[in-house]
Amino acid sequence: MGMVTDPESIFDSTKMQNIGGPKKPVLPRYYFPLIIGIVLAEAVALGFILFDIFPLSHSFEVYPFAQYSPYVNASDVTQLSVTITRWFFFLLTAGVLIPTTLIIIMEVTRRVLIARKGESNAWDDEFSWLDKLDKVPPVPADTTARVQGDYITRFDIHQRIQHYVLMGSFIVLAVTGLLRGFPDWPTFQWFTSIFGGTEVLRLVHDIAAFIMIADGIYHLGYIGYGYFVKHKSPSAMFPRWKDLKDIIHTALWIFGMYKHEPEYDHFQYGQKIDYWVIFWGMPVMVITGIIMMFPLFFSQWIPGEWFAVVATAHRDEAILATGFILIVHMYYGHLQSTAFPVNTVMFTGKMLKSKYRQWFGREYAQITREKEQE
Ligand code: HEM
Repeated sequence: MGMVTDPESIFDSTKMQNIGGPKKPVLPRYYFPLIIGIVLAEAVALGFILFDIFPLSHSFEVYPFAQYSPYVNASDVTQLSVTITRWFFFLLTAGVLIPTTLIIIMEVTRRVLIARKGESNAWDDEFSWLDKLDKVPPVPADTTARVQGDYITRFDIHQRIQHYVLMGSFIVLAVTGLLRGFPDWPTFQWFTSIFGGTEVLRLVHDIAAFIMIADGIYHLGYIGYGYFVKHKSPSAMFPRWKDLKDIIHTALWIFGMYKHEPEYDHFQYGQKIDYWVIFWGMPVMVITGIIMMFPLFFSQWIPGEWFAVVATAHRDEAILATGFILIVHMYYGHLQSTAFPVNTVMFTGKMLKSKYRQWFGREYAQITREKEQE
């Protein structure tokens, strides 16, 4: 099953406690009521989001003060291509956010049941056919240097800067963009006036957009430098058969058939999905955003109808991205029981050994075994 054999290093997910290493305090009593409240609130918010982008609930309007608005007229907005774009993003958003919200609800339910029963009466997690999907990756070269006292280093300074900048620019873009995208909402009008009006929002959105684009280039440059100069493959982020195995394993765990959650290597499958969702979302936002930013230039090639398509894609993808960050990224990053209340690894680059064991059990075993052999 690829489970860690050293009894010291087994994390008991049924009790949700670390065994060995500095102990994480047991979850506070208010944890489950709080999480259930947050998840239910998110489900309601998701209902509103889906209603808002449901193509039949109201027509798509072009924001009247947008730079590109002179290039679009009312008939462009009702064109078939705009309708197809709206349906595409509606189905994509519903297809991504409904299943993930349901999975989160089921996962929280499972954790509540485990916490109440103390012990689960799950099957032994021995499913040999699942093992066929598994292949332990080679130990990365720099593993032992990563162990420092009670901590294991996970992200270098470049990765942390990339995440800081992405987080900051995303928050600014989401706030300024969504305030501008829904100018009819009274609350949004109030916030807009506090920020100094639509022109200020546009300026701030443009500046934040260039910062985000620069961050994306930094990220690609970092990967390229790592690959070509330092011969470090970014393959840890690529999908592998083990991810499929882990998804099946998690499903069996959620339905109470497995005792333990999967043991991961450098990235959990959910983290990979998170990364690739952003990898898809960024080009969509950048390409559509740049076209809207320079409408005169692009109007040489594209008709008004396409400005409407571009604006639709930008607004709807913005809603999907914001919904994804608030619901999925926040839950798996910070709110789930093993991370609550805040996961500092992305800010400090380091993770407590005991937590590393919980999150990346198989890599942890590899790293510490190497360290012992030093
Ligand atoms: C980094 C790439 C991005 C660029 C280049 C960009 C650029 C733009 C531009 C030029 C506009 C039209 C502004 C106007 O003419 O008044 C706009 C609107 C908007 N942006 Fe962005 N943006 C980017 C990323 C984002 C992100 C990450 C979000 C939210 C998560 C976002 C949300 C919005 C929204 C909701 C609107 C209003 C759409 C509409 O007018 O219908 N943008 N953006």
